[in-house]
Amino acid sequence: MKKGIFITFEGNDGAGKTTICLKIKEELEKRGYPVVYTREPGGSKIAEEIREILLDTKNTEMDQRTEALLYAASRRQHLVEKVVPALNEGKIVLCDRFVDSSLAYQGYARGIGMDEVWQINQFAISDYMPQKTLFLSVSMETGQKRMNIRGDKNRLDLEANDFHQKVRKGYDTLIEKYPDRIVVIDAEPSVDVVFKNALDQVMKVIESYE
Ligand code: TYD
Repeated sequence: MKKGIFITFEGNDGAGKTTICLKIKEELEKRGYPVVYTREPGGSKIAEEIREILLDTKNTEMDQRTEALLYAASRRQHLVEKVVPALNEGKIVLCDRFVDSSLAYQGYARGIGMDEVWQINQFAISDYMPQKTLFLSVSMETGQKRMNIRGDKNRLDLEANDFHQKVRKGYDTLIEKYPDRIVVIDAEPSVDVVFKNALDQVMKVIESYE
């Protein structure tokens, strides 16, 4: 049986990942591909319940390692319940955030350490890594602007600018470390332009497996 293709989308808050991901899903379906769009944290019942704890703005006392473990737990549940079965059915899985988010947010920005966070995540994901990761790159200003338009802010959105700058630095470290897996897409232009560039990258991956 043909195995599926696992593609993840990453970026700072306000980069526009969800919009682009959903447009790609729609386009791939139009072209006849079997696609699953999903997101982290969440994407399945138990994982969504963990998401609520993680993003609840009232949970100001959450310990950083607890936060990292909960993201990893939510990831595990979502992976076994949703991602792996879809891949086994030969589907293309588009996942809005995955392990790189934990490495950038918890590992780098929170200061736990990327290696430490990688270890707990390796336990959570075993060998399941995406074939390709699209990193949507925006300036801090653009990210903030888009977040403000979106309105309601979660616990991590409320972190200071300094935190979001560190998140970006964490991602930059990953981009340098995994140049074959992570593709950087300039997400400053209009949705149509970003969508086209992102779709080109996704099609390259699909065609390389056909
Ligand atoms: P969400 O509303 O889904 O944000 P976005 O649309 O930007 O993806 O909230 C997810 C938040 O959780 C986001 O601020 C990033 C953060 N996050 C982590 O800190 N670590 C992780 O491992 C993941 C998956 C998300």
